[in-house]
Formats: sequence, C-alpha cells, structure tokens
Amino acid sequence: HDRAVGIHDLSFATTEFVLAHTVLAEHNGTDIDKYHHGIGQRSMSVPAADEDIVTMAATAAAPIVERHGSDGIRTVLFATESSIDQAKSAGIYVHTLLGLHSATRVVELKQACYGATAALQFAIGLVRRDPAQRVLVIAADVSKYELDSPGEATQGAAAVAMLVGADPALVRIEEPSGVFTADVMDFWRPNYREAALVDGQESIGAYLLAVQGSWKDYTEQGGRALDDFAAFCYHQPFTKMAYKAHRQLLNHCGHGVDEDRVSRDLALTTAYNNVIGNSYTASVYLALAALLDQADDLTDRAIGFLSYGSGSVAEFFAGTAVPGYRDHLRTKAHREAIDRRTPVDHARYRGLHEFSFPADGGDHRTPAETTGPFRLAALRDHKRVYETR
Ligand code: CAA
Repeated sequence: HDRAVGIHDLSFATTEFVLAHTVLAEHNGTDIDKYHHGIGQRSMSVPAADEDIVTMAATAAAPIVERHGSDGIRTVLFATESSIDQAKSAGIYVHTLLGLHSATRVVELKQACYGATAALQFAIGLVRRDPAQRVLVIAADVSKYELDSPGEATQGAAAVAMLVGADPALVRIEEPSGVFTADVMDFWRPNYREAALVDGQESIGAYLLAVQGSWKDYTEQGGRALDDFAAFCYHQPFTKMAYKAHRQLLNHCGHGVDEDRVSRDLALTTAYNNVIGNSYTASVYLALAALLDQADDLTDRAIGFLSYGSGSVAEFFAGTAVPGYRDHLRTKAHREAIDRRTPVDHARYRGLHEFSFPADGGDHRTPAETTGPFRLAALRDHKRVYETR
C-alpha cells in the first residue's frame, strides 16, 4: 500500500483519585522497595464513584473531537475488558456525550488487554477501504483485584483515545504483524465477578511465551530486524513486566542481555504506567504516549509494539513516527491528567474499591466526586445516567 495509515491523534484521561504505593505498603506491611523496584509501580489511579470507563473514554476523546471535528468519524471501536454491560457497547454512551453523527457504527471489542490492538488493526482495515474515513479507537479500563491480594498493587485505570486515519500526523502503522494465540487460564473474570481472578506466576509465564510466539511469527512474515527499533512499547501490567518481556525477546533473538540496551529501549515508555497502574487495554498505548511525549526526536524511527491480552492473544507490530509529529502531541494535557488527581488515604480507597450499585432497579445516585467534564450521575431503572458538567 502506498498511502500511510496510522495514529493521527492520541489523547488519554485517567481518574479523579490516586493511591500512592507508600500508603498501600504502610497498610499491608510490604517493603516499599517491592512496589517501587520489584514491580516498578509508584501509584495507582482510583476512579471516583461517579467515574467509569465511559467517563474516562469521553474525557480522553473529547479533545480529539474538539481538534478535528466529528466529520469523517464513521466508526467508534471501544475496547475494554471491564465492560459495564453485556449487550450494549459503552461506545454508544461516548457517542452521545461527544455529539457524534448518527451515521456512525459503534461496537465494543474484548480480548483482555489485547482488545485495543485488535481495534487499531480493524480501524486500519476500514481506513484502507475508505481513506476518507476516520476511526475513533478507544481503550478504557478499570483494573480491579481483590483487596489484600497480590494483584492489588497492580491496579489502575485510564482511557486512551486514538484517531486512526490516512496520512497520520503521529505514527504510521506498518505491516506485517506477528500474532499468537494460546488457550491459557492465567487471568480471567467470570460474568458474576467484579474483580479479576489471576494466577500471577502463570500469567507472567504466559506473557513471556506470547512475546516469543508473536515475534517468531513477525519475523516469519518478513518483519524488521530487532536492531531497527528505536524503542519498544510493551503492555505493562506493571512496568517491570516490560523489562522481563524485553529481556526474553533479546535472549530469544540470541542477543545477550545488555542492561544498558534494555534500559535505552524501554526507559521512556514507563513514565505514565508507573504512576497510573494497569489500565489493561490502554496500557500499551500509554507506553506510546509516554515515549512520544518524552523522546527528543523519533522522526522516521521504528517503534516496536507488543500487545498482550491474557487468555491469551498477543501481537507484535511496528510503527514509525512521522515527520512533524512533535507538533501534534498533547504532552502538557497528559501531565495535567496525572497531576490533577487527588491523593486518597487507605480508608477512602477501600471505600471506593467496595462501591457498587445495588442490582434492584431503584434510583441510585452517585456522590458528586469527579471534577472532570463527564460524570456517571446515577443508575436508575438499571440504566446508567451520564452528565456533562
Ligand atoms: N525489594 C525489591 N524487590 C522485591 C522486594 C523488595 N523488598 N520484594 C520482592 N521483590 C521483587 C521480587 O523479587 C519480584 O521481582 P522478580 O519477578 O524480578 O523476581 C517482584 O518484586 C514481585 O515479587 P513477587 O513475585 O513475590 O510478588 P507477588 O507474588 O506478590 O506478585 C504479581 C507479583 C504476580 C505480578 C502480582 O502482582 C499479580 O498477580 N499481578 C496481577 C497479574 C499480572 O499483572 N500479571 C502480569 C502478566 S498478565 C498480563 O499482562 C495481563 C494483565 O494485564 C493482567
């Protein structure tokens, strides 16, 4: 294909509240070094009672619609694994909140943390069919594990919105992709549960296997050589996982593990995930945001992406930063989205963690907590009611 297709704009949003790992460590007696260095996390985003995947998604996507308008957006692909409804797509609420045209298709996609990469690839296919079309891809998740479980320290929440189109201003996405699927029970969430179930060590092993599998397919499909890449954006359930994954890749490729190289390839990609926590589908694109926002100049340099979703599916692919991309970044807004969060103490965090609506079909209003542009005002007659502030 001669015409470039890829990410034309990227914007993210996160939550009203933040819990520092120092607070969690003090509560459960964990050595803080385990969190800061062992898993590589410093804080986690915590949603207010009136925030969810829809409010974060709309907050992330609103500046994109503001900058580019909604003309040309004929498809919204909403990727999530913390869905709010088993039938209706969360994207329809976002479609309303952003005032998008009725001549739009909206759909939700799921395959654990991998879903947004499927959405990105499907979006590219739609744009190749009709280069005038733009696709709004949204990845939004709230990562929730049981209180006092090993997974608790890796929770987080965020939404990334990306406008996918022809002649993109940020990153051209290349072919081929390397893909890999293996049926494993490393992490899952039955319909009757709010918190995910996870076999922690199994999940790390499954991820590493998927890195090898997707890279093997990528090379067999004629992909770039390892040394071509300026940086690698990995799915980051916790930022140290990217380091484990990259060492696995280097070993697999017969490169010795040179820690300076590992650090050079990854260091700029962890800055947002490190303070936001696991945002599942959004995580690998938060890695991209952190890289683009902080790197000196990546023009015409290749970026490797490794998207992993438990269960499991993985995809390795490459993107190239296009000339002039730095003029289109949202670095300041991204920093603000992180810095505006209000720290909570452990009791408040616990209360928010335990919050859920009764399933009785009554009129349940939420306390007004978020200071963001959109809020979940109530669950009334089993219907979610959103408000623009
Ligand atoms: N100082 C420094 N480091 C310390 C330390 C200390 N005092 N104490 C422990 N550490 C280190 C450990 O050595 C270990 O590092 P290595 O893995 O490099 O050896 C690290 O801190 C974590 O320690 P443990 O393995 O003992 O931690 P744990 O058993 O409490 O749990 C976990 C870790 C399994 C990742 C857990 O947080 C978990 O279950 N998380 C959720 C699942 C997950 O994120 N899996 C990742 C792959 S699956 C995926 O990617 C999909 C997804 O999004 C879920």
